[in-house]
Amino acid sequence: MHTGSFGSVPTTVLDLMHKYQHQSQVRPDEFLRYDFAQKLNESRAAIAEQLHVPSSTVVLIQNATTGINTVLRNLQYDANDTILYFSTTYGACQNIVLSTMEVSKCQGHRIELEYPLPDEELLDRVEVAIRAVRDAGQRPKVLMLDTICSLPAVRMPFERLLELCKREGILSLVDGAHGYGALPLNLAELCPDFFVSNCHKWGLVPRPCALLYVPEHNQKLIRTTFPTSSLFVYTCISQSTQLLLLVQTSRAQYDVPKYTSCLDCHRIAGAS
Ligand SMILES: Cc1ncc(COP(=O)(O)O)c(C=O)c1O
Repeated sequence: MHTGSFGSVPTTVLDLMHKYQHQSQVRPDEFLRYDFAQKLNESRAAIAEQLHVPSSTVVLIQNATTGINTVLRNLQYDANDTILYFSTTYGACQNIVLSTMEVSKCQGHRIELEYPLPDEELLDRVEVAIRAVRDAGQRPKVLMLDTICSLPAVRMPFERLLELCKREGILSLVDGAHGYGALPLNLAELCPDFFVSNCHKWGLVPRPCALLYVPEHNQKLIRTTFPTSSLFVYTCISQSTQLLLLVQTSRAQYDVPKYTSCLDCHRIAGAS
C-alpha cells in the first residue's frame, strides 16, 4: 500500500465514520441540526491546534484540488497579474491555473525544474522567474508551491520559498497535499497566505477530508466556496471576513455522507 496515493485508515476510524453516516440517515434532524456542526467545529479546532493556528482560520474541505480551486478562483486578477507555478506542480493544480487564466485573463508562468536539483538552484530559478515576469511588465501575484511534490517525490524548500514570497510581496499558496500527517507543520511560524493539505493521505483520516488554512487577514479575499452555497452573502450586503467558515459549515450540512469522514477521526487515529 502507498498511503500517499489515496490514504487508508485503521478499522476503528472506519467504524466511527460508519456510525456517523448511520446516524445522519436514521435521525437526520437531530444529527444535522445539533451533533454535526458541533463535532465538525471540534474537529476543526483539533486540527488547527496541531497546526498551531486559531480554529477560525481552518476549514475542512473535500480534497486538495477543492482548496486550490477555492483560492485561485476567488482571487481577483488584473490582466497583468501572473500566477507562478512549477513544472513539478501536480497536474490537476496546473490545470486549475490554466482554467483560471481562461476565466480571469491573468497570466501563468511555469518555472521548469529538472531533478536532481539543489535547493539553492531551485530558489535561484524562482528569483529569475520573478524578475522575468516583472521585466515583461507583469506583476507576479501568487506563487503556488508544494510541501512534497508527487512526481518526483521530493520535499520542496517550502520554508525558504515562503520567506522569498514575503520579501517579494507575492501571495503564497501552498499545495500541502502531502503535508498533514507527513511533516511537522507550524503554520504560525511558516505564515503562508493560503495552505491546503489532504488529511486523508498521511493523517489516517477517512477519504475525503482536507484542510484549507486562510489567516484572518486574507479571509476577505475568499468570497465563496465552490460550489457557492446557501450562506453566501453578496458583496454589496456584507464584507464579513468570517464568511468562508460559515459557508463551509453550512455547505457541509447538505453533504454529510462526504463530510462525516471529517468528524472525530483524527483523535482516534492519533491515539491508535
Ligand atoms: C502534490 C499533490 N497535489 C495535489 C493533489 C490532489 O489531491 P486530491 O486529488 O486529493 O485533490 C495530489 C494528489 O495526489 C498531489 O499528489
